[in-house]
Amino acid sequence: MDLPRPDSDLPALSRPGPLLGGRRFAIAARRLVTCDPSRASTGDPLGVIEDAALIVRGGAVEAVGRRHEILHPGAGIEVAFEAAGVVTPGLVDCHTHAPWVGSRDAEYAVRMAGGDYEAIAAAGGGILASMRAVRAATAGELAAALRARLLRMAALGVTAVEAKSGYGLDEASERKQLEAIAEAGKDARLPRVVPTYLALHALPPEAGGGRAAYAGLVARSWLPAIAAAGLARYVDAYIDRSAFSVDEARPVLERARALGLGVRAHVGQFADVGGAALAAELGAASVDHLEEVAPEGIAALARAGVAAALLPVASFTLRQAPPPVAALRAAGVSLLVGSDANPGTAPTESLPLALALAVRLYGLTVAEAILGATREAARSLGLGDVCGAVRPGLRADLAIWDLPHENAIVQPWGTPRALAVLRDGEVVAAHG
Ligand code: NIG
Ligand code: FE
Repeated sequence: MDLPRPDSDLPALSRPGPLLGGRRFAIAARRLVTCDPSRASTGDPLGVIEDAALIVRGGAVEAVGRRHEILHPGAGIEVAFEAAGVVTPGLVDCHTHAPWVGSRDAEYAVRMAGGDYEAIAAAGGGILASMRAVRAATAGELAAALRARLLRMAALGVTAVEAKSGYGLDEASERKQLEAIAEAGKDARLPRVVPTYLALHALPPEAGGGRAAYAGLVARSWLPAIAAAGLARYVDAYIDRSAFSVDEARPVLERARALGLGVRAHVGQFADVGGAALAAELGAASVDHLEEVAPEGIAALARAGVAAALLPVASFTLRQAPPPVAALRAAGVSLLVGSDANPGTAPTESLPLALALAVRLYGLTVAEAILGATREAARSLGLGDVCGAVRPGLRADLAIWDLPHENAIVQPWGTPRALAVLRDGEVVAAHG
């Protein structure tokens, strides 16, 4: 079968009929970005195969290779997708606040006119505005908003999403968010969802200003109950000058570890107050933001093998300088890129937009950005044996792009360019 040229206006994908039911089928691609380390080299960090094909069986990748090897005469396999452009692993968004309701458009307008994010938060806006909206929402409304958001993310090429609570700020409302995540997590037609209890995000008004006492309550009572209910895989804390200190966060994150949960942390978004060292000490899965982090913090992350999740949409929106990417890279810290999807600092649902900004503003190479939103992100979420690369044994989570080359994934800002998005070998989103 002839493959149309990917940069022409010919249809970039032919999809003859439904694939459902765990059938065995093949996908052919002009360019297959495997993100498989065993295929990668210095000159080809993404392990690209040209004129490639892969076989999907039972929702998993069975074989990957050159087209002529996989689809040799006599292979007798249906080519379900004929991709004229590039196929990548489904994107993995390692940092989102996805279960929110309500809009903070008024706050955004104030900030764009010069208002200060931290001052707005201190005056009861910001995260507390989202808290009021989440507390007022029914469980059904919250779950519906999350489902709709996850579907829109899937349409952008995303097949796995970390989702944080953190807008409830009381036990029942945090659980309401986490239960919405759990509900979405049962739906195989949505991206996979990894639940994170964002235990320390902001201090609710009823805490009366007692940050240490609030953190103690979280550590002693809410967190063990949430862990026992199986509602979280990770626990997150916002460690910053206008949020929680290392001393306040420590008991919560230590308790998380003792309960067998992983740790992630918002660190150094506005000031370095020592969060990187704490995260390193606790063997965190990632530290996120890092606009402000001292060399000692970077060294601690590198020694402990903690990944850095870069969130360029947030720093762009807040008009901040980039994190010290060159120093992180030089220290050998794994770089992730997340959308930080939230109604305040990162008003987007688009991981491809975050990738575009990571390249444009932070100087990541396209390969670094793609690995940070596929293999490296999956590894940081404990999904390294599930997704994030195209190799035999992993689930068939794939994005088939209407784009000639992986470089183009960071170019068409704001336009969905995934023609078909597969999770477990089933189409969860399609365009065209
Ligand atoms: O990752 N910095 C803390 N948390 C979020 C923002 C939350 C909000 O403004 O609603 C962030 O930027
Ligand atoms: Fe965040």
